[in-house]
Amino acid sequence: MDSLPQQNEGPLAAYRARVAEGALRADPAQAHAAEILQALWRNLRGYAPTPAAPEPRGFLGKLFGGKRGSGDLAAPEGTPEGLYLVGAVGRGKSMLMDLFFETAEVPRKRRIHFHAFMQEAHGRIHAWRRAHPGSDDPIPPLADQIAGEASLLCFDEFQVHDITDAMILGRLFEALFARGVVMVATSNTAPQDLFKGKPGRDAFLPFIALIQSRVEVFYLESAQDYRRERIRGLPTWHHPVNGRSERALDAAFEELTGSPHGEPASLQVLGRTVPVGEAARGVARTSFDELCGRPLGAADYLAVATHFHTLVLDGIPRLGPENFDRARRFITLVDALYEHRCKLVASAEAGPDQLYEQGENAAMFERTASRLMEMQSQEYLGLPHLP
Ligand SMILES: Nc1ncnc2c1ncn2[C@@H]1O[C@H](COP(=O)(O)OP(=O)(O)OP(=O)(O)O)[C@@H](O)[C@H]1O
Ligand SMILES: [Mg+2]
Repeated sequence: MDSLPQQNEGPLAAYRARVAEGALRADPAQAHAAEILQALWRNLRGYAPTPAAPEPRGFLGKLFGGKRGSGDLAAPEGTPEGLYLVGAVGRGKSMLMDLFFETAEVPRKRRIHFHAFMQEAHGRIHAWRRAHPGSDDPIPPLADQIAGEASLLCFDEFQVHDITDAMILGRLFEALFARGVVMVATSNTAPQDLFKGKPGRDAFLPFIALIQSRVEVFYLESAQDYRRERIRGLPTWHHPVNGRSERALDAAFEELTGSPHGEPASLQVLGRTVPVGEAARGVARTSFDELCGRPLGAADYLAVATHFHTLVLDGIPRLGPENFDRARRFITLVDALYEHRCKLVASAEAGPDQLYEQGENAAMFERTASRLMEMQSQEYLGLPHLP
């Protein structure tokens, strides 16, 4: 039986407190998820496995050989089972995982966007290969490093699109689980549907089996898309650029992320670093100058549009033939945002129709202006993001 102090601690208590203070609406599906997270929270109190480096016992090798299921998973005895929260967009998965992460009493814990985690992993593999030319297997030292940093890993937006990720995931996670790492994740995709329909899927199936054996899968079937509800109530285009529009963007960022400021953020694209100002919970906030005032191109804007569901963009100037470089980049940015249903909250010197001064190339901007108008519509704001 719970002792009284425990009932006031952990993600369930935190969830109930937010509902009681009116910051969240009561939602039975979320409350159920919070109860499951609470059980894991309790299991994990003080969890600190020694990040030793056991040799994985070849679970994947056995699977490749056709034998499935196995009590001989290499996870140390007593390792708590993790949790994989799956559901449609805006259901509160990240919010719940964050409540869990903030309250988790685990000495070494880390919350990271899954895409960023994989980029970091590839970077570390490259660094290791450079430092150890001729050595064969970078996975065990990589797993040592990751497990040394955190025994609880919380991944936001778990998804696998990239064959280079798919190829290392199985061995990497087998090695992490063998070191006692517990994983909690949010995702729009159930484990059995990861990497579906992609070439090389067969070789990926053992990873799915591994995940299913190490985490509980919880389907968050909340009826409400809360993000849509929040952004629907928000005006998304503010002009002209002044103190008022800046405060409106401050308020939008806070409404969408729950905090006034995010973490400084950047994206790695083809070996380049694309600065995106600050970011939190899938929302980036940066300025027009930062994104369109430097030589970035379609691949960079695509990364922004797929990585974030909402971009809060400060200070779009009047555009025209004299700053056509910037205008052209802005056109490319809007195309990427539009194609991926990324939402835009912006401050600008003028409305979309008056943004590009008459003159050379004005016709090119017409489609952009039209897209910007559409992107303010309730219909567009209700569309799911296409990462
Ligand atoms: N019960 C609730 N009442 C009010 N707002 C909520 C509730 N649950 C979540 N929200 C808010 O709705 C927004 C979307 O929630 P969240 O980002 O956690 O969704 P998600 O399931 O992670 O979505 P995605 O799959 O797109 O990542 C957030 O701003 C969050 O704070
Ligand atoms: Mg989320």
